[in-house]
Amino acid sequence: MTVRASAKIYVTRPLPEEALSLLRRCGEMSLWEKDEVIPRDVLLREVRETEALLCMVTEQIDAELLAHAPRLRIVANMAVGYDNVDVPALTRRGILLTNTPGVLTETTADLTFALILAIARRVAEAERFVRAGHWRSWGPLFFVGHDVHHATVGIIGLGRIGMEVAKRAKGFDMRILYTGRTRKREAEEALGCIPVDLATLLRESDFVTVHVPLTSDTHHLLSTPQFRLMKRTAFLINVARGPIVDQRGLYAALRDGLIAGAALDVTDPEPIPLADPLLSLNNCLILPHIGSASIITRTRMATLAAENIVAFLAGRRPPTPVNPEVLEK
Ligand code: DGY
Repeated sequence: MTVRASAKIYVTRPLPEEALSLLRRCGEMSLWEKDEVIPRDVLLREVRETEALLCMVTEQIDAELLAHAPRLRIVANMAVGYDNVDVPALTRRGILLTNTPGVLTETTADLTFALILAIARRVAEAERFVRAGHWRSWGPLFFVGHDVHHATVGIIGLGRIGMEVAKRAKGFDMRILYTGRTRKREAEEALGCIPVDLATLLRESDFVTVHVPLTSDTHHLLSTPQFRLMKRTAFLINVARGPIVDQRGLYAALRDGLIAGAALDVTDPEPIPLADPLLSLNNCLILPHIGSASIITRTRMATLAAENIVAFLAGRRPPTPVNPEVLEK
């Protein structure tokens, strides 16, 4: 496959300068300069001449977009997840997809732990209470929550991020259960992780945390029947993708006390509408999809996405291809 030396590169969001300067050096780069999601009609217009597209999870890279992008050769998604991309459609067209695995693992695990601690110890609720001027005195029953140390955590998906969550859980002396497609002997030996089936994990965990990609198999993986299996004192944490959890079922489970609480960094849809009943619950903590949002990690993600494009345009193998079979052709 040949790509012109001055290939047209389009970036759908302002990025750290490190990444942009890499791209400027290897092609004719232009970008959507507002720090907001690029309107669909603008994107469809911009991709007409584009050979390399650096996009976010907020862009749907689907058949409609591909029909507008006859010259497109590579899509570099600035995320580890790529459920926003129709991968088979790209592969059929011989278009390479790359993602950004590895560089956001620990940052996302940190946020998972922040959510575990915050929902268990009622951090957001207590902070709102102080700001509302309700704080009168210390009290023995005042804002009592649940302990994280020595509790049982159930990790659904012991991949890179799940593994980092397990390491943090070990530091809190937690019992660690996990489910996954494959046994992780190293994690079992080093961290004491215990492989179980999903039903056992749900029944025994105090904190259930989700670290699987969104696919047709994981869509609504957690819904009313699963919440019924959980302890009434258990918490659900989701930093993966919103549609893995059935949000209507979650609302009912939280309202009816089937589970104690939920902390979500991702919702379905995003942003969550202000009228969503989940926002009316004190036992539900919701963040705006900031799992990987540290300055260093976002810079690494942008740089890795740019490096994938730079390597591809130079005829080298990009560091993190999703559909490498395209490169063999
Ligand atoms: C990812 O990398 O998949 C994140 O969800 C985007 O921040």
